[in-house]
Amino acid sequence: MDFAFATTIPDDADALIVGISENRVLRPGAEEIDGLTDGAISKAVATGRFTGKRDQILDIVAPAGISASRIVAVGLGDFDDITDLGRQRLGGNVAAHLNRVGVKHAALLSVKAAHGADFSHGVRLRSYRFDNYRTKMKDDDLPSLERLTIVSADPEAGEARLARLAPLASGVELTRDLVSEPANTLYPEEFARRASELSALGVDVEVLGEAKMTELGMGALLGVGQGSARESQLVVMRWEGAANDAPWLAVVGKGVCFDTGGISIKPAGGMEEMKFDMAGAGCVTGLMHALAARSAKANVVGIIGCVENMPSSTAQRPGDVVTTMSGQTIEVINTDAEGRLVLADALHYAVETFKPKQVIDLATLTGAIIVALGSYKAGLFSNNDELAYALVAAGDKMGEELWRMPLGDRYSKDIKSDIADMKNVGKAREAGSTAGAVLLERFVGETPWAHLDIAGTAWVKSDEPLTPKGATGYGVRLLDAFVEEQYES
Ligand code: BES
Ligand code: MN
Ligand code: ZN
Repeated sequence: MDFAFATTIPDDADALIVGISENRVLRPGAEEIDGLTDGAISKAVATGRFTGKRDQILDIVAPAGISASRIVAVGLGDFDDITDLGRQRLGGNVAAHLNRVGVKHAALLSVKAAHGADFSHGVRLRSYRFDNYRTKMKDDDLPSLERLTIVSADPEAGEARLARLAPLASGVELTRDLVSEPANTLYPEEFARRASELSALGVDVEVLGEAKMTELGMGALLGVGQGSARESQLVVMRWEGAANDAPWLAVVGKGVCFDTGGISIKPAGGMEEMKFDMAGAGCVTGLMHALAARSAKANVVGIIGCVENMPSSTAQRPGDVVTTMSGQTIEVINTDAEGRLVLADALHYAVETFKPKQVIDLATLTGAIIVALGSYKAGLFSNNDELAYALVAAGDKMGEELWRMPLGDRYSKDIKSDIADMKNVGKAREAGSTAGAVLLERFVGETPWAHLDIAGTAWVKSDEPLTPKGATGYGVRLLDAFVEEQYES
């Protein structure tokens, strides 16, 4: 899709988007078009349920006096209250409407260009599609919107804001592409190859295969992958955008390219969804893309553990004990609690190698977090209040919300093993998400750490303002804002 800024209304636009604030108050763009159309807008909004509440949409078709075939009036709510996120969501909701009715070229009227850029960001995020495997699409199946022109007196400000947002949108799109990709095409080596493409943006990418990980003693990660014909990979992506002596932020992702459960196999119903079990790693990769593409002034290392959890004659068995790179041993009670095994080694590697100021991991770790929080918020676990507060704030700002969940000794005792340092599950049906988190906590030492359980938020079953149903790219926008706030200012 094309976004352009212009100072006058393009005559080939088929829809003009105008704003109406609460209590049916026409914004300047709406006033202008109202004047050209013999009061079509004021007449249309005078009666009926459209009052200008945020995100209401009213279509005025075939207006006389202008070349566009429709006016799309959008409710802004209290105009002074709209945030950047609010403008992005407006754009997302309007994009869905324009695509539904078949608009090809829309013009957004008389806004501050920077505000228009946020609106267009929402349009872009909501218009995401994953059509790689659809060979028989008819025109009606395709989104109609091809172009959005932002009509504004100060286009330069718009370009500047878009330069900040476009790399972020590309990062979100990369994450969504990776997460949407089926597991027969996106297996660990292919994931590593895709991540390696970030070197074009100046990211230093290093791929560790099984030989190297064996040397490092990553028995937990390797144990998960040992039942698969695909080779496990650890990918290290460094973006050094700040001074040499500035501290690292490490971001670690669970990259289980497919989770069958292993020998503790999952039921068949819905198992296809487990191609998304690499969404944490997908987020880390998209984040690294966004940071590099916008030349973020921060030192961030992204580390993803990519494996496939399969049942086979070489798969690990329930009861096996694995030795992690940290030296701690884990009794594998359930081979389906594999994400924490992958992260145990990836987190230890991250803190050992980079001595980061903070480490954040993202993982589709537990079904239990979906029971607790649904798909509206991700679970946040942290050993550090300051880090936790900063993440919650970034999440609120970006509309990728977090809800803090507990850690602590009593939960930690639940993963005591009779024969190893710990086991990989806690009590049946009790505090399942925390049982995963307290295991991870043992692999970060004293480093301020946060774990984001994104099992509920990485994939949605219905459209949301900034994402069509499917892979959301959750976490990229949140962490981009966190990096900007905590490492760049
Ligand atoms: N990838 C799953 C978590 C998951 C489940 C995400 C459902 C999204 C939807 C994870 O590897 C897993 O299987 N976790 C188990 C842990 C249990 C065996 C302790 C779970 O949540 O059931
Ligand atoms: Mn599992
Ligand atoms: Zn899993």
